[in-house]
Amino acid sequence: MYSLEIEGGEKLSGELQVSGSKNSALPLIASTIISKNSVSINNIPDVVDIRTLVKLIEMLGGETNFDSNRLEINTSKVTKTKATYDIVRTMRASILVLAPLLARFGHCEVSLPGGCAIGSRPVDLHLKALQEMGAVIEIEDGYIKAKAPDGLVGAEITFEKKTVTGTENLVMAGALAQGKTTLFNSALEPEVIQLCEVIRDAGVQIDGIGTETLTIYGTGGELLDFQTIDVIPDRIEAGTYLCAGAITNSQITLTSVEPKHIEATIDKLEEMGFRFDISEDRVTIFPAKKIKPVNIVTAEYPLFPTDMQAQFVALATQADGVSRIEERLFENRFMHVNELQRLGAEIDIDKNYVEVHGLGELRGADVMATDLRASSALVLAGLVATGTTKVHRIYHLDRGYENLEEKLNALGAKVKRIRD
Ligand code: EPZ
Repeated sequence: MYSLEIEGGEKLSGELQVSGSKNSALPLIASTIISKNSVSINNIPDVVDIRTLVKLIEMLGGETNFDSNRLEINTSKVTKTKATYDIVRTMRASILVLAPLLARFGHCEVSLPGGCAIGSRPVDLHLKALQEMGAVIEIEDGYIKAKAPDGLVGAEITFEKKTVTGTENLVMAGALAQGKTTLFNSALEPEVIQLCEVIRDAGVQIDGIGTETLTIYGTGGELLDFQTIDVIPDRIEAGTYLCAGAITNSQITLTSVEPKHIEATIDKLEEMGFRFDISEDRVTIFPAKKIKPVNIVTAEYPLFPTDMQAQFVALATQADGVSRIEERLFENRFMHVNELQRLGAEIDIDKNYVEVHGLGELRGADVMATDLRASSALVLAGLVATGTTKVHRIYHLDRGYENLEEKLNALGAKVKRIRD
């Protein structure tokens, strides 16, 4: 196992290039299952979750070549349709192969992803929607066993609540269905929009891209002709590094970023006193004269993202006053709080709501990463804590942050990866 050892107190400066979006690349990789041709995908972040999904595609019979952020993938030789527990349990987004496998082969078995640290993470909305398209689905021995021997049939579907991967699965199902599928209350995340655009460019008519109502005119089972794909920038990685600049009260510039996708994050940082220079694909953050407290409620895109909540709890420890942060999407997404308290943070927690009492000095200590975004919050706190902070179990970080210590050290931080 590895840890990150962080010497706190360094100011940051310089430029950092944002990687491609993990949460856009994952559905795009899964969607190649419904492609008739080999697909080239550029700007893929080399992180563990991507390598896990690439491995799953290979286990199903696909051919892949992943080199310097470019992935060539050919699924014409895929014959297997079972995504086994051993791989799905390591990455619940494997659920994204469910709809493409079912749409292409008429049957598949996908292990129930199970919960993860931040919550039970059910997939009931995915399954209910596929059943409305004619799929027969049973849960047996921990597996989702889905059948649609005559193919999926277009339907009018309303998601009871917005689900990112649920919308993505159903867009892929609708692409190959017979007839028209309308998805009401679809998620609006940029990653959902990129998947829709890629499938539209592969020959499927999709109306309403970027709105909550998507209408997909399926091919009736004919595979798609994918064009080369360039993955959009990772808006959560970008937000995390803006928080690195903010927590150390430094000036840094992010390049290859999509400012539109991080508006909610920038708005909250501006409320806290930070200023910005924003151009087409670059964002510079400037130090705040005084870091002000902030009130945050997490919600679906385009509102404040749950994936940035932990980072802002860490940042709020440096604010002059009390910040109030409420987590509305996941039932257990405050595990970073106990660890931040070990660094001296004064945080009161009450179910899905925290009050962060700022300006308490953080002092370096050993802390434990628990999930992807919580671990990034601990790294941010380590950047500003006096002395040395050691973040254990950083395999959580490696799932979604490419070259994290190299990127931070290039900005002047002192972060070392050490074997436990
Ligand atoms: C996606 O997860 C992201 N993952 C998550 O990012 C992100 O936190 C989440 O969306 C919310 O924005 C990927 O895109 C790979 P949801 P997803 O379905 O799709 C409930 C990260 O850090 N729900 O939008 O699994 C669910 O419990 C990860 O990169 C159901 O009840 O999230 C949650 O409360 C962590 N039934 C809410 O909806 C379902 O069938 C939103 O979940 C599906 C979801």
